[in-house]
Amino acid sequence: MSAAGNFHVAIIMDGNGRWAQRRGLPRSAGHVQGAKMVRRVVEASARAGIRTLTLYAFSADNWGRPSPEVDSLLRLLQCYLASETRRCLRNSVRINVIGRRDRLPAGLVRAIEHSELLTAHCTRMRLRIAIDYSSKHSILEAARRASCNGLSAQNFETLLAEVDHSVAGAGPVDLLIRTGGEQRLSDFLLWDCAYAELYFTEALWPDFGEAGLHAALDDFAGRNRRFGKVLAETA
Ligand code: FPP
Repeated sequence: MSAAGNFHVAIIMDGNGRWAQRRGLPRSAGHVQGAKMVRRVVEASARAGIRTLTLYAFSADNWGRPSPEVDSLLRLLQCYLASETRRCLRNSVRINVIGRRDRLPAGLVRAIEHSELLTAHCTRMRLRIAIDYSSKHSILEAARRASCNGLSAQNFETLLAEVDHSVAGAGPVDLLIRTGGEQRLSDFLLWDCAYAELYFTEALWPDFGEAGLHAALDDFAGRNRRFGKVLAETA
């Protein structure tokens, strides 16, 4: 899919709340349904040959939601890691959680460390889950560390990965998908998306499905990526 052979797809999974509200259910029910869709899309992504999949599960700004919703989301993430790690292991999917860990409940941090350790040798696909993630925070923190340590700009990406707890080699995002009809980046992977192709769909995340993923990949296949240059035949 990408010339480098490390095709990286990132997804802003929006629309869980609306999915639930349309059915007269609490928002937390939408997140539960969203987690089921995560499992399906992870498996479909591995089958499609995606090498890195980064999912925006909980942004730093999501702390501002009502505390019952925050608590249920964090519990859901912990349950997901507990229940899906074995499945990822079987499918050779490496789990990596990016974002801050110092504000997360201890049980969730333990679950993250356990999933990462157990799947560290898996090579088919990297599954990066962004939790308590803010791109602006990561960039500022990497810049702070760079200035404290007198590091050069070329080491900045390594520092950024270190701040994010990211595994090496995730690389830039090729395709950024956002479900739920909104068209914005919401402080997600701002550095990594410098040349990402953007794909927005009206589908709410719990309805996205394998078909939604393939529609996005088909759309991407028709894009003309020039990375700021001109096409060879027109040069
Ligand atoms: C945005 O939809 C979605 C979130 C803030 C949470 C995303 C979480 C999941 C998909 C489930 C758990 C994730 C994993 C990795 C197991 P919203 O609630 O803002 O929806 P709305 O715009 O309709 O209100």
